Amino acid sequence: MIELALFGAGRIGQVHALNLAALPDVRVKYIIDPFANAACEALAAKIGARLVDADTAFADPALTGVVVASSTDSHADLLLRAVAERKAIFCEKPISLDFTTAETVAKRVEASDVPVMLGFQRRYDPNFRAVRERIAGGSSGRLEQLVMHTRDPGPPPVSYVKVSGGMLRDQAIHDFDQARYMSGEEIVSVYAVGNCQIDSAIGAAGDIDSLLVTMLTASGTMIQMSNNRRGPLGYDQRLEAHCAREVLFIDNRPQTDIRIASSAGELRAQPMDYFISRFEAAYRSEMVDFIAMIRDGAKPLATIRDGLEAQRLAEAALVSIASGAPVRLSADWKP
Ligand SMILES: NC(=O)c1ccc[n+]([C@@H]2O[C@H](COP(=O)([O-])OP(=O)(O)OC[C@H]3O[C@@H](n4cnc5c(N)ncnc54)[C@H](O)[C@@H]3O)[C@@H](O)[C@H]2O)c1
Repeated sequence: MIELALFGAGRIGQVHALNLAALPDVRVKYIIDPFANAACEALAAKIGARLVDADTAFADPALTGVVVASSTDSHADLLLRAVAERKAIFCEKPISLDFTTAETVAKRVEASDVPVMLGFQRRYDPNFRAVRERIAGGSSGRLEQLVMHTRDPGPPPVSYVKVSGGMLRDQAIHDFDQARYMSGEEIVSVYAVGNCQIDSAIGAAGDIDSLLVTMLTASGTMIQMSNNRRGPLGYDQRLEAHCAREVLFIDNRPQTDIRIASSAGELRAQPMDYFISRFEAAYRSEMVDFIAMIRDGAKPLATIRDGLEAQRLAEAALVSIASGAPVRLSADWKP
């Protein structure tokens, strides 16, 4: 039996807990959430977990691993503690609100032999994974241009914006990760523009809600991302990989597959309403892989290094927005 502790039982913690509870010989034994509400208590009752504090969970010698799904400002300390206690770790992105801290944590993880996996669930989505495998397999020809769109249905509450690290470290970090994952290369230059067009309260909190980024890989592949916090379509999340011999598209997934056609035209169901429904299968596979990493030593698709490198791109984009100029990157670039 693999016994786990879940830190943070909010939106994503609930998803991971239920996916883990459905796996054989896996038990979420503890939930740690200092702001536990009725939803945390209901989750604990549903999966047979105990609500405890962090010290109680870490003191249990039978505890094999931890799932860090708490607010971003707690990730770094929990990663360091779990490494020190030699517990396998699944940690949500980003590693830290602060890049220097993220670097220190990544080095500590890499110097240990504790297995650690990062929460870039798009790598586990069947469509994203199939596109990456097709590009890597060579049948598409060289990837020349990659274009990605991520648009949330609506802006998050300002209370979330304030603790999340802002749009680049929180939302766009998935696209920065996809830039490296799809191209299989490091990025050498980042140029970004960003501003606040949708919700002035986000601007007042020091963040942006609209973003365009252009990047180049070492071999010259061009990558473009457009991100914002409003999607008239709903959750709008698409990708186009233009390769030498074929173009690969990942479109929005409709809520149903029904198409209604008449002389007036065609109607299709709107896209999945948010990341939790759109990436339902990916979140399940992520937890299957986390358990495989613990049981069999399987290498996860997203490592702590991937978390650090995606965050480096987010930081470079922030510098580019502030300066109005492209940022040239090296392996040790930091803001
Ligand atoms: N990969 C993804 O698709 C994805 C999606 C959503 C959120 N996230 C990440 O997951 C994390 C949580 O996001 P969310 O949307 O679930 O937020 P949320 O606010 O819904 O939940 C966070 C929970 O963490 C708890 N918490 C705060 N400090 C804690 C601590 N020290 N120990 C334990 N629990 C603590 C809070 O009380 C809250 O219940 C964030 O880092 C976010 O970036 C990732």
